[in-house]
Amino acid sequence: MNEYETHRYDVIVIGAGGAGLRAAVEAKSRGLSTAIVCKSLLGKAHTVMAEGGVAAAMGNVYSEDNWQVHFRDTMRGGKYLNHWRMAQLHAQEAPDRVHEMEAWGALFDRTPDGRINQRDFGGHRYARLAHVGDRTGLELIRTLQQKAVSMDIDVFMECKILRLLHDPSGAVAGAVGYRRPSGEVVVFEAKAVVLATGSIGRCYMYTSNSWESTGDGHAMAIWAGADVIEMECVQFHPTGMVWPLSVRGLLVTEGVRGDGGALKNSDGHRFMFDYIPEMFRAETAETEEEADAWYEDHANHRRTPDLLPRDEVARAINAEVKAGRGSPHGGVYLDIASRRSPEYIRRRLPSMYHQFLELAGVDITVEPMEVGPTCHYMMGGVRVDPETQAATVPGLFAAGEVAGGMHGANRLGGNSLSDLLVFGRRAGQGASDFAEANDRPPTVDVAQVDAVVSDALAPFGREGGDSPYAVHEELQATMQSLVGIIRTGSELSEALEKLDELRDRTSKVSVGGGREYNPGWNLATDLPSLLTVSTAVTQGALARRESRGAHTRDDFPSADPALGKVNFVQRQTDPRGFDAPIHIGPEPLPEMPPELRELLEEGH
Ligand code: FUM
Repeated sequence: MNEYETHRYDVIVIGAGGAGLRAAVEAKSRGLSTAIVCKSLLGKAHTVMAEGGVAAAMGNVYSEDNWQVHFRDTMRGGKYLNHWRMAQLHAQEAPDRVHEMEAWGALFDRTPDGRINQRDFGGHRYARLAHVGDRTGLELIRTLQQKAVSMDIDVFMECKILRLLHDPSGAVAGAVGYRRPSGEVVVFEAKAVVLATGSIGRCYMYTSNSWESTGDGHAMAIWAGADVIEMECVQFHPTGMVWPLSVRGLLVTEGVRGDGGALKNSDGHRFMFDYIPEMFRAETAETEEEADAWYEDHANHRRTPDLLPRDEVARAINAEVKAGRGSPHGGVYLDIASRRSPEYIRRRLPSMYHQFLELAGVDITVEPMEVGPTCHYMMGGVRVDPETQAATVPGLFAAGEVAGGMHGANRLGGNSLSDLLVFGRRAGQGASDFAEANDRPPTVDVAQVDAVVSDALAPFGREGGDSPYAVHEELQATMQSLVGIIRTGSELSEALEKLDELRDRTSKVSVGGGREYNPGWNLATDLPSLLTVSTAVTQGALARRESRGAHTRDDFPSADPALGKVNFVQRQTDPRGFDAPIHIGPEPLPEMPPELRELLEEGH
């Protein structure tokens, strides 16, 4: 490996959002040599877009809350496609992880008697989200970043990883990438690799995700031969900004509705009352009076339909707009101005206040916001062992959004921050155990690296190919229009054909200039991930011939009980890589123990 800059660690963590930071802290605290490698700057991660809070059944606001209710809410929200054991560990361990954040310096908002305050969010039976105004993700990132820096964990910033590397036994033993500022290649040899690369949002046109979220970890896991599951389950957060166009998709926190905001159509009607699904009817208010009373006292009232799970709300907004009852820019209205005082709004939702004022010229203490669905979160991902977060390929671990299973067909808001804390820690432990049990130094042969580098540099030597921007734009348009909130078989097949064409064009893209900070080339190296992931999402969506959670098929509008018992598992066998086929098939969900099944049946 002489000609490349090479580093050797026990554990490398790819990604520096909450899950990656938490995993690295764990590995380092075990005394293992640990590095974080991230595509962007440390702490610039989609974690900050979980604004409204971290879900944990601490019972600070409603003492009736406990892990069993949180487990039940999570499974119901995921339409029972979740891995039960992940949902159980998550519900049981989230309170400790929140307290740990506090001990490490996170400053949560308080109840009047001084405990960590908790707010309401969609699909959670009790006010359960510990929060810091509407900047909770940012506070957690700040805290974890400070912790990692204080532990002297090595950080490689602005370093884009292209591929995982194998040792001769087939185990993952490192990764290869390049430094964005210089374009120079860098190789990491490691006994264990944790993927914490986050989301896939940039496959879509309107997304809350920033430029980094190109599904790199999902794709690299597939190319490494690992199983991925539930790739059809992509979450559209109901409320993103719709105007101005330059910021379309930017998140409007569910905390607005958690704190009393109401959705209205162009007639001023609170339309969510018209979209209460049977499954949630018994516990959902049918009148505005009852819905509003619920904010004050959960014990005697049924919850507001504005806080139904995200899949239900996103579909309802979509339907209102389609029926011609939308706002001027193709969304609906979210009104908190007429429901809470300006002082309350500015204190509880400071980021939303500034975001709308500065970006849209809208004062949310006076006027309603215009909002619509935005691609926000990937439920599907690498199939992992719940206890260790080990993938199906030895040496590989995954945590946070790149891992699948925890959220089933739809994630509840606030469960992402708790997920990344619970499973980031577990991934750090799993990777450390694996590295400790393996006393051989990692070995990867240079031919693997040479092949990756030659593919990555190929666009410089080509002439007359497409620009990577053109291919990306068509990919986003395809996914947005054919694989969006509402799907149908014929459109999904059309999307697969289009993705084939784009794959062909990707292998011929041309870029100009040099390797130093070259955004065109950087995008060219993202395209293989974007295409692999888009293909996996589309294949999954075509295979799941039912509607479940965030996956809605117009041609199969009901849930199919038989399909509720399976995951669609995708994997590459041989050959593997960007242009190799991905095989897909159903596999039974793990069997839930009877005592947990009872919790669901009891409606605990
Ligand atoms: O709406 C929000 O604040 C997002 C939270 C989440 O995705 O967990």
